[in-house]
Amino acid sequence: MITSNSIRMEKVCYSIGGRTILEDFDFRLDQGVNRTILGVSGAGKTTILKLLLGLLEPDSGKIFIGDLQITGLAESSFMQQRRRIAIVFQGGALFDSMTVGENVGYRLFEEGQLSLAEITNIVLEKLTFVGVEAALDLYPSELSGGMKKRVAIARALAADPDYIFFDEPTTGLDPIGVYNICKLMLRLQVEGKTTLMVTHDLATAFATSQRFTFLHTARMLFEGSEAEMKVCSIPEVREFLKPTDGSLFI
Ligand SMILES: Nc1ncnc2c1ncn2[C@@H]1O[C@H](COP(=O)(O)OP(=O)(O)OP(=O)(O)O)[C@@H](O)[C@H]1O
Ligand SMILES: [Mg+2]
Repeated sequence: MITSNSIRMEKVCYSIGGRTILEDFDFRLDQGVNRTILGVSGAGKTTILKLLLGLLEPDSGKIFIGDLQITGLAESSFMQQRRRIAIVFQGGALFDSMTVGENVGYRLFEEGQLSLAEITNIVLEKLTFVGVEAALDLYPSELSGGMKKRVAIARALAADPDYIFFDEPTTGLDPIGVYNICKLMLRLQVEGKTTLMVTHDLATAFATSQRFTFLHTARMLFEGSEAEMKVCSIPEVREFLKPTDGSLFI
């Protein structure tokens, strides 16, 4: 079934440098169903997000944002659909030469639809939501890793997207930082945002998502709930879950 409130991949193939990253990959993110894509480092998780955003073109297969197939389209012709999705990149990807406030308001400023006063209000609201409003005039180099991630989330929220993609949002954070990011994701979900996270951090995945996709050797090896994953008999899935089942050091 195709609905306007989903983002989908159908039989997507993608290779780079002679290596197959995705092969006949089917994927579906429904609005309101928060999902995590799991997979080892280098499996192709970030690649999936870039394909879904139209930042990469698949070799074959189709990608839909809502009812619109974006494959082969110029970004300008799917701006309206693309605007419904924001991404928090793996490293935060803040502009070093801009203050926190400028980073968060940058996209709205570029779009030129709102006055400076309106943008300033939105910037402050989003920074307050993530709890770093005091950092408004600081530069990224003056922030801790956890603060950078929060600013990156505030920037993603600025355009009021329906979907937010998180690329490894907890990597490099201490346990309190991880907890805070999880709490933020849950608050976003309560506010009606749909989150798609890619990570190999199982604890964060289980704390914030209802559905899980496991990517392995270019294919979707598993799709299901946490309970289904934990009793899944696929050897690669069991291997991936092993560090959480207490057997690793036995
Ligand atoms: N520009 C590129 N040129 C060649 N290979 C690339 C390029 N970009 C990515 N790759 C390769 O594609 C594969 C998938 O990369 P991707 O970044 O999607 O992995 P990932 O699952 O996000 O990994 P991680 O968990 O480490 O972030 C990797 O093996 C990577 O080396
Ligand atoms: Mg990655």
